[in-house]
Amino acid sequence: MKEQLEKIYTEAAADIEKAGTVKDLEDIKFKYLGRKGELNEIKKGLKDLSDNDKKVVGSLANEITQKLESTISEKFQNFYMQELNKKLEGEKIDVTLPGQYVPHGHVHPLTSTTNEIVSIFQSLGFSVAPNECSPEVETEYFNFDMLNVPKDHPARDVQDTFFTNLAPNVVLRSQTSGAQIHVMENQKPPIRIIAPGRVYRNENINARKNNFFHQIEGLYVDKDITFGDLKGVLNEFIRIYFGASRPTRFRNSFFPFTEPSAEVDVQCIMCEGKGCRTCSGTGWLEILGAGMVDPNVLKGVGIDPDVYSGFAFGMGVERLAMLKYAIDDIRLFFNDDVRFLEQFKG
Ligand code: DAH
Repeated sequence: MKEQLEKIYTEAAADIEKAGTVKDLEDIKFKYLGRKGELNEIKKGLKDLSDNDKKVVGSLANEITQKLESTISEKFQNFYMQELNKKLEGEKIDVTLPGQYVPHGHVHPLTSTTNEIVSIFQSLGFSVAPNECSPEVETEYFNFDMLNVPKDHPARDVQDTFFTNLAPNVVLRSQTSGAQIHVMENQKPPIRIIAPGRVYRNENINARKNNFFHQIEGLYVDKDITFGDLKGVLNEFIRIYFGASRPTRFRNSFFPFTEPSAEVDVQCIMCEGKGCRTCSGTGWLEILGAGMVDPNVLKGVGIDPDVYSGFAFGMGVERLAMLKYAIDDIRLFFNDDVRFLEQFKG
């Protein structure tokens, strides 16, 4: 039986040596080490041997079993690693290859400027008026009448304002100021809102003018609001938007819906106040209109001007973006030229 065992071992070892695949190894394992395998057959015959032979043959059988098991499993491991490496090799990714450029969109500079201005006023306690308070198609009532604009004011002329054929008094709004009326008709003081949106004017288009553009309207109505509050809020806005070192100036002006009225200038960003083409030699750039809400306007919406006062302001988004980024042609905002727009990526 000893010789038989040694023969089995030599044969099995040779088979293992020849095995080329995992499948071969499984077959060999089955043939020699399986329940009905050759080694087990011998182990079954042990019971007929003398005690001494049983010991010798038994331990040899065990030794051979262990040896075969360990060579098979060693080879199995090798095959497994080889196959795994082959698979990984096939799936290899060359991370040094250049990536594929995927062009992606980004926010338009007018949108980002609007967002920036809105968030500054939000940080000062203003909230954005509901959309229904700020329609682009408006009646003369909101766009002019309630804002104290006289019937014969030139702004009402078709030369300046787009009238629609929807009804005689329906216009494309020429200013966001009408939002003030919508808000005050719907809300009692304290009121502290801003209303961003598009406005339309019957202009000849050139580098400085387009027949539509964007404004941000502001309104603050409460008890004891003074011109000092107006200056405080607008100076703070300018300080955040243009930077702390930029001087401002409030100039006397006129708007039908405010009294007194002011126009606010910042020192020219091109020449730092020395005087250049951009500021027409004045050293100053006008950035917004403002004033104390005219008592007539408050009365019109049923707010008692003896109890309440307020200030309002309006600014052009294009103008503020042009001044901050030194853009010299308003049409660039509307031409969809990616060479311009891409300069405002994230
Ligand atoms: N609506 C004015 C315009 O389009 C701007 C403006 C001026 C708005 C003074 C205001 C204001 O609220 O108080 O030119």
